[in-house]
Amino acid sequence: MEVRHSTRNNLVSYPIRDIVLEAKAIEKAGTRMIYMNIGDPAAFGFGPPQHILDAAREALGKGLTGYAPSEGDPELRKEIAASEGVTEGDTFVTAGLSEGIDFLFHSLLDPGHNIVLPSPTYPLYITKERIYYGTENYYDCDAGWEPDAESLRKSINERTSAIVLINPNNPTGAVYSRKSVQEIIDVAGEFHLPVISDNAYDMMVFDGECPDIRKVHKDVQLIVGGSLSKNFLYPGARVGWLAFHGDSMGKLKEGIQKLCNQRLSVNWEMQKGAVAALRGNKGHIESFNHELRKRRDYIVKRISETDPLSMSPPKGAFYAFVRVESRKWKTDWQFCRELLRHGVVTVPGSGFSSALKGLYFRIVLLPPIDQLGEAFGRIEKMMNEKG
Ligand SMILES: Cc1ncc(COP(=O)(O)O)c(C=O)c1O
Repeated sequence: MEVRHSTRNNLVSYPIRDIVLEAKAIEKAGTRMIYMNIGDPAAFGFGPPQHILDAAREALGKGLTGYAPSEGDPELRKEIAASEGVTEGDTFVTAGLSEGIDFLFHSLLDPGHNIVLPSPTYPLYITKERIYYGTENYYDCDAGWEPDAESLRKSINERTSAIVLINPNNPTGAVYSRKSVQEIIDVAGEFHLPVISDNAYDMMVFDGECPDIRKVHKDVQLIVGGSLSKNFLYPGARVGWLAFHGDSMGKLKEGIQKLCNQRLSVNWEMQKGAVAALRGNKGHIESFNHELRKRRDYIVKRISETDPLSMSPPKGAFYAFVRVESRKWKTDWQFCRELLRHGVVTVPGSGFSSALKGLYFRIVLLPPIDQLGEAFGRIEKMMNEKG
């Protein structure tokens, strides 16, 4: 007999990995798959700078075999504080930014309340809003993928406790203009709400510049989330952090400290790797961004040649969110499943927002150009077969 499980579990979904189960089944039956679903640089041969690995390896020899301080290694907190322009007490180290997001939603959301999310958004935010019994609430970011301040203003209600901003954005690859960031800050200020700024990709910009929200937030409370995963190409390290900018967040920080305490600590050696990441040379990002720009240009070309696909060209992070303007597919899942049968794994757009209008799928810009070419060949074949 099946063991009893919590109903809360039914609220968890993570489409980026969920679709892999279906892909594996098709692969087993003999179709070679091109995985364009998951944002893991290591899967495509990109790795962290050597000095980060060296620092983690060296730390292994130093007998850091106990629990690290729950809120994070003091040396790392010092580096985070210096790079964020806050005090060490305003920083917390988490097991990836994922855990930081979990702690924030845990601490900010009461049942029936909401944190306003960009539409589309990184799916973890949707799951967290659901499992803490919040109400899903979005603001539109679908016009050229820039956030719409008016839509944000309309979505805020008396049960709203924070606003999420992801810049550069996953899944769209948008890099918001300074004007858009300022507008979001202004609305947050109007309603006295804190802004959670997900900066997981803030060094990954290959077209234009990413405005620094720390320079515009002024007296609006700002919580910045960072991570080793993307900017430093080291998702396996599982080191992320939160930095609190501004006053009147003492109770919130106490809550985060308690959550850090109850899970004891983050891997200590990897935190030493993170110290080296923040202190050391960041030259790796230039060559990585150069690679991304090449892939972006290639994808833009292929999409412009493939009817009925369209997209706003990504400028940062490593994703493209592609629109399918056709009635031949009723849902994005139907489209993505058909693509699976042609050997291409993508993520259905609805996994990134339930408020999205239109049919979309997300791909990563990480595969080498010849693999992207093969994937687009398969996509075109499917389009032609559909007639
Ligand atoms: C926007 C965004 N935020 C946070 C995360 C989580 O990152 P981490 O690996 O640090 O948990 C991801 C991972 O893909 C992401 O895309």
